[in-house]
Amino acid sequence: MKRGENLYILIIGLSVFIAGCSLDKIPPSTNNKYQSKVDSLLKIMTVEEKIGQLNLLSSSWDVTGPTMNKNYKQLIKEGKAGAIFNAFSVDYVTRLQKLAIEETRLGIPLLFGYDVVHGHRTIFPIPLAQSCSWDMELIEQSDRIAAIEATAEGVNWSFAPMIDVSRDPRWGRVSEGAGEDTWLASLIGAARVKGFQDKDLTDNNTLIACVKHFAAYGAPQAGRDYHTVDMSERSLREYYLPPYQACIEAGARTVMTSFNEIAGVPSTSNRWLFRELLRDEWGFNGFVVTDYTSIYELIPHGVATDSAMAGELALRAGIDMDMQSNIYSKHLKKSLDMGKVSMKDLDQAVSNILLIKYQLGLFDDPYKYCNVQREDTEILTQKSQQFAREFVAQSCVLLKNENNTLPISRSVKKIALIGPLSNSKDDMLGNWSAAGRAEDCVTLYEGLKEKSKTYNYKLEYAIGCNVLEESTSNFNKAIELAKSADYVILALGEHRHLSGEAASRTDIGLPGVQQQLANKIIALGKPTVVVLFNGRPLTIQELNDKAPAILDAWFGGTQSGNGIADILFADAIPSGKLTMTFPKNVGQIPIHYNMKNTGRPVRDENPLYKFTSRYIDAENEPLYPFGYGLSYTKFDYKNLLLNKEEITSTDSIQISVEVSNTGNYDGTEIVQLYLQDIVGSVTRPVKELKGFKKVFIPKGEKVTVSFTLTVNDLKFYDINMNYKFEPGTFNFLIGPNSVSGIKGAFTLL
Ligand code: BGC
Repeated sequence: MKRGENLYILIIGLSVFIAGCSLDKIPPSTNNKYQSKVDSLLKIMTVEEKIGQLNLLSSSWDVTGPTMNKNYKQLIKEGKAGAIFNAFSVDYVTRLQKLAIEETRLGIPLLFGYDVVHGHRTIFPIPLAQSCSWDMELIEQSDRIAAIEATAEGVNWSFAPMIDVSRDPRWGRVSEGAGEDTWLASLIGAARVKGFQDKDLTDNNTLIACVKHFAAYGAPQAGRDYHTVDMSERSLREYYLPPYQACIEAGARTVMTSFNEIAGVPSTSNRWLFRELLRDEWGFNGFVVTDYTSIYELIPHGVATDSAMAGELALRAGIDMDMQSNIYSKHLKKSLDMGKVSMKDLDQAVSNILLIKYQLGLFDDPYKYCNVQREDTEILTQKSQQFAREFVAQSCVLLKNENNTLPISRSVKKIALIGPLSNSKDDMLGNWSAAGRAEDCVTLYEGLKEKSKTYNYKLEYAIGCNVLEESTSNFNKAIELAKSADYVILALGEHRHLSGEAASRTDIGLPGVQQQLANKIIALGKPTVVVLFNGRPLTIQELNDKAPAILDAWFGGTQSGNGIADILFADAIPSGKLTMTFPKNVGQIPIHYNMKNTGRPVRDENPLYKFTSRYIDAENEPLYPFGYGLSYTKFDYKNLLLNKEEITSTDSIQISVEVSNTGNYDGTEIVQLYLQDIVGSVTRPVKELKGFKKVFIPKGEKVTVSFTLTVNDLKFYDINMNYKFEPGTFNFLIGPNSVSGIKGAFTLL
């Protein structure tokens, strides 16, 4: 009998017994069912075996951080790993799982984690782009597909959703999040958790989600990655924490720590954050994993003198699993012997992890995600490609469209496609591309080539320049090509590694000589659209001034080129709206739509009056506000209706507006509702998103869009930090973005 088999027989025996009683579907956050199994297992585990469960090691298949454990296979055999990440494929996962099952005394199965951030093999638009669809069904469905593909390749734990609210586009990781709004990000986070985990974790095509990065990682000083975060508890609770909480409420089984400190305490040693807030206040009962080597990083943070102390701080703070530091593995036993950490804390951490392994059904079948047939048939399916293509179109945001430059006339004869992002397969993936492959990606050139079969135009392409290089030597060729065409598409922006982790920028304009190239091409006076590829809002004032049309396509993933081509030719109508403000220049950052009024707001009647809160060299207004995005058709807002002007605390109010499609295309509008609590016991933002509806309106038709508000929508942290509503008057705005629309007011008695 091999090592591991003893326990196996015990566990199988137990599961047969349990199966006899019931094998109900597991509600995501119900722990009770398996706790007795976990407790029995804990009783027979040695301290070393327990500590082994707390260790998460990267395989050599992907590099997502600074260190690598070359001997991870040996460590699995020694029982010193509870989970592996950056490993996938049925073959490889089976081989690694076998090491744990067959070579260790207890044969406890491994978890397999991976950054399934926006798709697994089928890569969807980057999360920031997805959020611009404002479409929870699409977002959830994309993560359902991602989960199906990832589990078909052995992965059972996704390091997503990343739901860090950020107001600073210099921070490269805004590309991974859901934008600047807390409420919208909360909806998106919950949808993503549902997409990954679905209804039943024991299914072989669901996986556990990991909410990250807890907490407030999106607010680093000066937008520099990993940098210090310092903010009031009010801001933390009001703006940064709710999306994580929404994910927990949606059943997310794991939480990842963040690299940053908050007010002097690094997250990974922050007892208040993990024990008091996450577990006691929010009732989280899954497990907490560090972000990469963040236990080790407690030393450079300056709160631990050495690795042993770092491990002790982390365990005491409630951090269950150590990713890549190997600190628990190396030091925890000694810390325990010295009484620096308690057996109770160790047992609790192990229990949290084992429980999830049980919930996934790994003890019943450690190879349940290792099914060659699924791997062959469930990846990159026709259906998921079609879905991805539609998702690209829904995520694009039309920023400018002068003289109806878009859509491109279907009778166009020759198109010149110019720019460094025209035909770069790799860049289409965006950052964090999991198992996505460049060769599976459709570039804009390829998408347009395919489209030319329908609309019969000639397509030629010139690179013009590279994304970053300063050389203009290819300009002439591009200019000559543009002259010969009757329509020009400029594919400009960032390359995919200019955003994402460790990719903060102080200058977020168009990199390299791209603006110069654009100027020369636009000056030819041909109908020209700029298709922008970017992982963050860019400062593109000059481009906006000069280009007749700009379509923000972000990084769309596998089906980028097809989805964009659909938009360019009106086979899909743009409807995306920005979820992050585009500043005019970096000096305006941090910039977000839900600012405070200040005691000296700019005076509408005299905007240049000196002693107000403004810049003397630029306006306060952004280039494109939150919620902004155009369509090929036109929507008119009128006939605002309130069913009452006063509400009580037990009441609700209905606000409706008539939205008509007065343009020439059927189209979809994202109707937005913003509120302002004019006077409170503490200051309130000038507006806050409180509702939206994504409605399809055929041309020439109109719909009535209604919102129902109750006092729950009016709550905030009052002067005593109680989450409640206060009577008073509320202004509201219903419109196509956060600055325009119809205004009104009501009073809460
Ligand atoms: C990132 C995480 C990611 C982890 C594992 C870290 O560097 O911050 O978001 O999940 O690596 O790849």
